[in-house]
Amino acid sequence: MSSTTTNNRITKIAIIGGSGNLGTPLLTALLSSSSHTITALTRPTSTSTFPPSVIVKKVDYTSPSSLVDALTGQDLLLIILKAWTPPEVHQTIVRAAVDAGVKFILPSTWGGDVSLASSPAWRDDPIQTSALYVKQVREAGGKWINVCCGFWYEWSLVLSEACFGFDLEGKRVTFYGDGERKICSSSWGYVGEAVKRFVALPVSRVEEGEGYNGAVVEDWADETLYISEFEVSQKDMLESLCRVLGSKKEEWGIGYQDIEERVKEGEKEMGEGNMLGFAKALYARGFREGAMQFEEPARRDAERLGLREVDGKAQEEKVDEATRRGLEMVRNGWNPFKSG
Ligand SMILES: NC(=O)c1ccc[n+]([C@@H]2O[C@H](COP(=O)([O-])OP(=O)(O)OC[C@H]3O[C@@H](n4cnc5c(N)ncnc54)[C@H](OP(=O)(O)O)[C@@H]3O)[C@@H](O)[C@H]2O)c1
Repeated sequence: MSSTTTNNRITKIAIIGGSGNLGTPLLTALLSSSSHTITALTRPTSTSTFPPSVIVKKVDYTSPSSLVDALTGQDLLLIILKAWTPPEVHQTIVRAAVDAGVKFILPSTWGGDVSLASSPAWRDDPIQTSALYVKQVREAGGKWINVCCGFWYEWSLVLSEACFGFDLEGKRVTFYGDGERKICSSSWGYVGEAVKRFVALPVSRVEEGEGYNGAVVEDWADETLYISEFEVSQKDMLESLCRVLGSKKEEWGIGYQDIEERVKEGEKEMGEGNMLGFAKALYARGFREGAMQFEEPARRDAERLGLREVDGKAQEEKVDEATRRGLEMVRNGWNPFKSG
């Protein structure tokens, strides 16, 4: 049975990973509009819980037929799997979604711009998971939408020095290069708001009828949806931390490291089995010229989604709010790896 978009709208959304770091705020955003029926797929062994309005289906991701059963009738699938989930799991899910007739698949990317996978900034990245996930959807015959939202701001600020370079406890930061390169970044809440607006669009322009000149979901079929809440440099982040913590820049130990040297250092640590080395090399690449700078397409997509209306705040205020949230998460004992 194929899916059932009614009135040219997406009505049924399935989500995998809806209880995770990004999945939780994203699901909250989707539930804040009552226009969709949301089904969360979750592993049989999972202890995840979901709000009562969500239909929950425990599914074995190694069983194509169980996945097809669970996904039949869904219009759109959001895949937000834990990083390092074996790629075969993603592939099985994607193939089942296509077999079930799911019209649009947002693969488990949620970060970079896959069109830059072979660019000078990223071509030496040994992993390239996002590009692989998109390829899996394409090869299965599905329609993919890659969400490029940059490095998650709160996560990257507080998780480890290997990410945005901040050791919050030790009040130290390592600037990559001069620390002034601005990259696109988004908070989880903003990504949720963008996706909520995206799934509320009409599906097809033709079906919406003559005279409609707004955006439609199909505009992003086999394309990237660019989301950038703000453009920040590491120096901007330090200033934000100083404002939020009421500290002075002089209280921070500031180090500088050449970006390429940091990429190599990260790769070496990764080769020695230290997964933070992976993060170190990944983030250092992200600060190369052109790697995470997609402000133009993000501005265009924000216009098309009507996000500019909610974007009224000054950049400094938005960054400070996200900084404050990140610090609160740490104070509240946040566990980024709770899904096991
Ligand atoms: N842009 C960035 O800065 C950034 C940072 C980190 C990650 N990411 C991307 O975002 C994606 C989601 O990351 P996240 O941190 O939100 O994920 P997460 O919270 O670690 O995990 C998401 C969900 O995956 C499911 N899961 C856990 N282990 C699994 C396994 N072995 N097999 C299948 N499912 C499993 C769990 O759902 P159930 O318990 O319900 O089954 C979990 O809630 C990643 O794939 C990565 O590509 C981006």
